[in-house]
Amino acid sequence: MTQLEQVKKAVAFLRKKTKNFQPEIALITGSGLAESVPQLSNKITIPYTTIPGFLRSTVPGHTGNLIFGVYKGRNIVVMQGRFHYYEGHSTKDLAISIRTLKMLGVQKLLVSAAVGSMDMKLKPGSLCILKDHINFMCNNPLIGNNHEPEFGPMFFDLTEAYDKKMRKIALAASKKAKINAREGVYFAVTGPNFETPSEIQMFKKLGATVVGMSVVPEVLAARQCGVSVLGMAWVTNMGCGIAKTPLSHEETIRETKKIVGKFKTLLEILFVKL
Ligand code: HPA
Repeated sequence: MTQLEQVKKAVAFLRKKTKNFQPEIALITGSGLAESVPQLSNKITIPYTTIPGFLRSTVPGHTGNLIFGVYKGRNIVVMQGRFHYYEGHSTKDLAISIRTLKMLGVQKLLVSAAVGSMDMKLKPGSLCILKDHINFMCNNPLIGNNHEPEFGPMFFDLTEAYDKKMRKIALAASKKAKINAREGVYFAVTGPNFETPSEIQMFKKLGATVVGMSVVPEVLAARQCGVSVLGMAWVTNMGCGIAKTPLSHEETIRETKKIVGKFKTLLEILFVKL
């Protein structure tokens, strides 16, 4: 089966399950952030495992559900839990969910993630609104797409990978929600190990603000098919070597638990304003 056939199969299944619900805004919740989703009405929860063509998430802290619902008149879909390259999925497969969302009607994608920070003004608990990224995964989900124009053009511009208008709204909303937020550049690594202190210093010199193991494959697939993106990277730790203690996934989950409440407040504003 081609990926296009796979996506069409998932779309047909989801349309049937949701009685043709057309989501406008999609949210992907990163590590430990699944509980940040505001209360949706007419909620329909569909486990990834039941969706034909979808992948399965295997990481603790990543619940695997697609949630459809309405927030103050806006049609929302949430990917509660995401897929990662380091789980062994090909980056190409990571595009399946994004292309499925696009085909269902999504126009705006809100991507959230836990990150390590290289900026002393962005300590744990702070939010980095992404203004750009550096793809250091040495991989690209769009390779081999030339026979599937439905997914968008092969060669496309990334001057504004992260939508300027949405960034402005997110910064204002963060201020309202009393969140320490700044714009910054996301540096994408494959993981699964955390970085070395020397790598962190190199990333910083290259112009990065935060580092993480996701976001970029999803953003590339979304931008290719014309979906606007807002990237929200929550700082759970300072980068290796800047942090005073060794890094761990447990720390990431523990820190995101402290973030859940303010992220929910932020999303309640964003779902209305975006
Ligand atoms: N590095 C990479 N990914 C991360 C980090 C980090 O320090 N913290 C949370 N996700």
